[in-house]
Amino acid sequence: KSPRSEEGMAALRLLLLAAPALAYEITPCPGITGSEASDAQSSIDNPIDQEPGDCLCVPSTQYNISCPAGFFCPSSGGQFKCTAGFYCPVNVSQPAFCCAGYYCPDASQMIRCPEGSFCPIGVEKAVSCPFGSECPEGTTDVSSNAGAVIGIIVIFLVLWICVCCQKRVKRFHGERRYGTVQEFSHDPKLLSRAEFDAQFTLPEDSETKKVDVKRKSLEEKQMDDPVAEGKVQEGKADPKKALTFDILYKDITLTLSNGRTIMKGASGRFRAGRTCAIMGPSGAGKTTLVTLVMGKAKRTDGTVYINGKQDEMYHYRDEIGFVPQEDIMQRNLTVWDILKFSADYRLPKEFSQKARQEECYRVLKFLEIEHIVNSVIGDEKTRGISGGQRKRVNIGMELVAKPKFLVLDEPTSGLDSVTSLTLASLLQTIARETGISVAAIIHSPSPDTFDKFDDFTLLGVGGTVLYSGERERALEYFESVGFTKPKKMTPADFYLEVSMGRVPRKLDDGRIDVDFDIEILPALWVTYGRDYRSDELKDLPDIHGSPDKESSRKETEIKSDDTEKMIAKKSGFSSWMQKTNRKMKTNASNEWHSIENYVIDCASEFWNWISCKSDGNRKKANFFQIFFICGRRTYFQMYREGSWVWGLFLHVALGLFVGVLITNQFVGPLPVQTCEDGPLQALRSCVLPLQDIYMTLGVFSCWISSFAGMIEGIYTFGAEQVVFWRHTARGLPTIPYFLAKVASDVPKMLINSALFFAGMTLVYFPLGDRADLYGLILVNYWVGYTFGYFVSMIFEPRLRSLWCVIFAMAYAFIFSGFTTTLPNIEDQYGKGLEWLWDMSYMRWGLEAFYVNQMAFYEFLENINSAFSTRNYNPDNFAKNCWIIFGLGLFWLFITFLCLKGCNRTKQK
Ligand SMILES: Nc1ncnc2c1ncn2[C@@H]1O[C@H](COP(=O)(O)OP(=O)(O)OP(=O)(O)O)[C@@H](O)[C@H]1O
Ligand SMILES: [Mg+2]
Repeated sequence: KSPRSEEGMAALRLLLLAAPALAYEITPCPGITGSEASDAQSSIDNPIDQEPGDCLCVPSTQYNISCPAGFFCPSSGGQFKCTAGFYCPVNVSQPAFCCAGYYCPDASQMIRCPEGSFCPIGVEKAVSCPFGSECPEGTTDVSSNAGAVIGIIVIFLVLWICVCCQKRVKRFHGERRYGTVQEFSHDPKLLSRAEFDAQFTLPEDSETKKVDVKRKSLEEKQMDDPVAEGKVQEGKADPKKALTFDILYKDITLTLSNGRTIMKGASGRFRAGRTCAIMGPSGAGKTTLVTLVMGKAKRTDGTVYINGKQDEMYHYRDEIGFVPQEDIMQRNLTVWDILKFSADYRLPKEFSQKARQEECYRVLKFLEIEHIVNSVIGDEKTRGISGGQRKRVNIGMELVAKPKFLVLDEPTSGLDSVTSLTLASLLQTIARETGISVAAIIHSPSPDTFDKFDDFTLLGVGGTVLYSGERERALEYFESVGFTKPKKMTPADFYLEVSMGRVPRKLDDGRIDVDFDIEILPALWVTYGRDYRSDELKDLPDIHGSPDKESSRKETEIKSDDTEKMIAKKSGFSSWMQKTNRKMKTNASNEWHSIENYVIDCASEFWNWISCKSDGNRKKANFFQIFFICGRRTYFQMYREGSWVWGLFLHVALGLFVGVLITNQFVGPLPVQTCEDGPLQALRSCVLPLQDIYMTLGVFSCWISSFAGMIEGIYTFGAEQVVFWRHTARGLPTIPYFLAKVASDVPKMLINSALFFAGMTLVYFPLGDRADLYGLILVNYWVGYTFGYFVSMIFEPRLRSLWCVIFAMAYAFIFSGFTTTLPNIEDQYGKGLEWLWDMSYMRWGLEAFYVNQMAFYEFLENINSAFSTRNYNPDNFAKNCWIIFGLGLFWLFITFLCLKGCNRTKQK
């Protein structure tokens, strides 16, 4: 054999270090004697049983040259220093990796790994084994880590102690609260608006003070006569200062972008100190009417007057109580938590903690739910309070905020007649005691329940008003226009039947019109209802046509949507074009309007925040107080939700799975000189490490830890979106809420990532800096959480997890620099796409992981080649972690914009 072919064989052997299954003729490691030699020999004899590269030593060559230990002398000539991590006894032509289970402090000696340490292949010093692991002499890798077990136990123990202490504290507070509420029994009355305002709104200058005191005493007198009270209020006080609202709405109209008119010129009134029942067939537009009046939705036409002044209810959203049909509240909180939260963020800042608590006690007592003050609300899965009690809590949430106007959307639905009656009495008492106006949408109330309402608004099909005035006079009106109530029918049913055209109408000439057209009903109200309306509404525009049956049809036909008819006459394409054009124009204008509103809203919230001003009419808790109460509520939620404890075990399991994958399987690149001498095929091995699992491990660790964060993160905002909309519609500022939710996730991130890291290091002992590695796992969790927030903002709940899988996979396998290394991006995907990788936390995470692990191998002469081929920089660990943190902040910012910008109408 020529010396050159010998060289080639030697280089090939080196290449095949990573493929132990191929047994080559290998001689014992020179320089090892006695039992060590036989150990080494036995491992060499059976390379198939060996871990890759365990002890495959390069044969000593038989050249007649003298090559000293610590050097190698290739056949091509020359004598070269054997570099760190390699072993060169006397007379060798090639360096060999220091065997696994041995370490080579210098290249001339190979020492067996002592007890209590372990030595992977190619290392210059032994690594101390972690506490509690079994490391006999010659250990190549650590398979267990008692420190991690202890870490996991300590974390759980601390959490358990915290939960136990918290339980005791909660029980103590709960018992005390229960006692206090019971003692409150002698004073069940609600505060009147005047009493309430006296607690906090007395202005500083005495002039205004006098005026206010006068007004208050006047108000107090009016409380005794609530019916009269509404009249005194009307048109007088400035809505900003008024104690109660008297609301007049005129010609409220809503036409959708498709041309459909849902609300057609509705006019009516909600008077202070009185209750108003809103009734009508299903789909008539009852909910639409109240949302339009309250400014929750944008109307196409119409005016709202508050205390006689043209204004928008939206400006006073923190003064309005809206009880939605669904019981929108956090189901894992207690009745107290829910009421207190409402009182905390909605009551004026002048209210002390004690006053807020008292307000909650008063409402609890008033709604007769004081005995369930410490009960959890519960849901379909977890039994909590009853449906009726939940309805009361729903009302209580608004009542504690002392609104000037209370609207309830079907508060009696799903309740029995006795409970409905009690609820209606409650509403009446609220109006009487506090002096506010109460409007409730109700379906088929019993006569007694119906009698509890002072006023009555009946809507007809198509969003038209058929009656709006005093309840007691409704029967008189309907009889005056020809409808007689059958004896057996309850008044409420009678009105409903009339609105649906099921009651025959007696005409002026005495004839009975059994099949009358219900479209004349609104026109009847406009024409014959003058006497039943207040002065401001005496003259309503006659948009509903004539009450006369025959002409009414014609008029309605002519008046209703002339353009629609014109379009209908035109054929096919041009009609479609016109329709689309109109639709696009409306849509574009709506879009522009909502963008404009969004920008104004965001800017004003930021400005309010910076200038420490309160959003809305009331001066409420400041930024830090809201931040605190939102954080406390989230903490209570977490505390009551036991499932998160099981979630912690899952993080350990995830870490464990990653740890099982990881072993310290790294065989570094060859010394430079060997490469220069080797055949062409061996060049690649000279540049890259022979065996390098760290890239794969990096992808798995970063991918799984960030993915775990994502899956947790989608619930932070996603699980309570509807509750957020409800609160923000009533004036909860978004910034402190948002920051509080994120801040209360931080301890979770710390615990979850610690458990993941502990799980991972249970079976894997990282060679790189362990604190750094934990830091990397933590920032991966952080970016995962923030990305999860973002996903929860823009995708449907059902699809969120799936989107997380897709994004995490794309980040891990496409935009990470794993499958396509960074220098190859341009070649493979074209120019200008690098920013996609720069935006991917995985690209930075992978580099940081690699750098962290490879730091241990920095003694290898050619190690930089491993970094340079991937465009990595060994000094980049901290920088990359900061970049990942920054990307998390970026997603956080986008999430905030989405939280504010998506579903704007629901936040009104
Ligand atoms: N934004 C909207 N887009 C499309 N249709 C709408 C919109 N708002 C309301 N509607 C339609 O207007 C009609 C009235 O709806 P609304 O919810 O006000 O009825 P309702 O009287 O409250 O009915 P129910 O008694 O069943 O609650 C319905 O046909 C509804 O589909
Ligand atoms: Mg409705």
